[in-house]
Amino acid sequence: MHIDIELTDADLRQSLRADARAGLTAPAKWLPPKWFYDKYGSELFERITELPEYYPTRAERAALTAHASDIAGITGARTLIELGSGSSEKTRLLLDALRRHGSLDRFVPLDVAEAALRDAAAAIERDYPGLPVHAIVGDFTRHLDRIPAGPDRLVAFLGGTIGNLVPSERAVFLATLRRVLGPGNWLLLGTDLVKDRGTLVAAYDDSQGVTAEFNRNVLHVLNRQLGADFDPAAFDHVAHWDTDQEWIEMRLRARHDMRVQVADLDLTVPFTAGEELRTEVSAKFHRSGVAAELAAAGFELAHWWTDPADRFAVSLSRSR
Ligand code: SAH
Ligand code: TRP
Repeated sequence: MHIDIELTDADLRQSLRADARAGLTAPAKWLPPKWFYDKYGSELFERITELPEYYPTRAERAALTAHASDIAGITGARTLIELGSGSSEKTRLLLDALRRHGSLDRFVPLDVAEAALRDAAAAIERDYPGLPVHAIVGDFTRHLDRIPAGPDRLVAFLGGTIGNLVPSERAVFLATLRRVLGPGNWLLLGTDLVKDRGTLVAAYDDSQGVTAEFNRNVLHVLNRQLGADFDPAAFDHVAHWDTDQEWIEMRLRARHDMRVQVADLDLTVPFTAGEELRTEVSAKFHRSGVAAELAAAGFELAHWWTDPADRFAVSLSRSR
């Protein structure tokens, strides 16, 4: 396996330090979501995808199952690049279809989580003999320029992960991707759709508490990486549907007053009882909004496919 490390442990620590200092000293405390995904966090996310309440993975898989051969036929992709690839489980539907179509030359998964990426890339190599796998440990908000050049590229960005960026970040991300791809390449984007509050909140606050554990895992990451002394059990998991922004906001709410020490930053972080730390947003979409954001970045939406229950969309766009 060929693996490029665009993010060393030292780079990761450096950006975690900067993010933690900025987020924990802000008037409204927050942390960026990429820090959920250490080895344990990646495992917890895989468990989330199997929860009865977490419909997005199953819905996206249904849409991909129904349309993978269309995607292969329309794009004739030679290089499949996957951003935030995680376990690349659903991606196998695309690999299978592109192989049947006869065009596939290589697979390029990119993820910030090195352990999960190595496992996934090794499993794909094992199950797709002869397929070159070129893995990239990188941040899709910083390292898009490291994806390989060449014609007939298809970039897959699945799981609704684009919704974990706020609108201004999405605009920068899509414009950067368009610049890196040049004209005539393809983007396959998975977006979760706006629906009733009950379904959405349950997907991010499951009855077994797996999502709560995933959310609190970011505190374990800070404890381990930055010598912080967060007591994860002193924070409640909150999933809040914001009807104006149309996003789910994940928060950790302090159960009582406390002072947290972050040794490596030489920082004391006070929390008052009930104070919340925002750990992630997960935006939900309508077709019109997705098409407009893509158009603004120079992509033309060509196909829009949903699962039978219209819960989740997979769209295929071409760079102009
Ligand atoms: N695509 C998979 C995983 C989605 S979970 C699926 O659909 O099931 C989100 C994935 O994105 C995780 O694997 C996480 O490690 C990765 N990720 C999150 N932020 C990232 C960033 N800034 N750059 C690269 N990968 C990121
Ligand atoms: N991309 C996933 C989503 O927005 C990530 C995710 C699922 C997540 N459940 C979570 C992130 C719970 C934080 C907390 O659906």
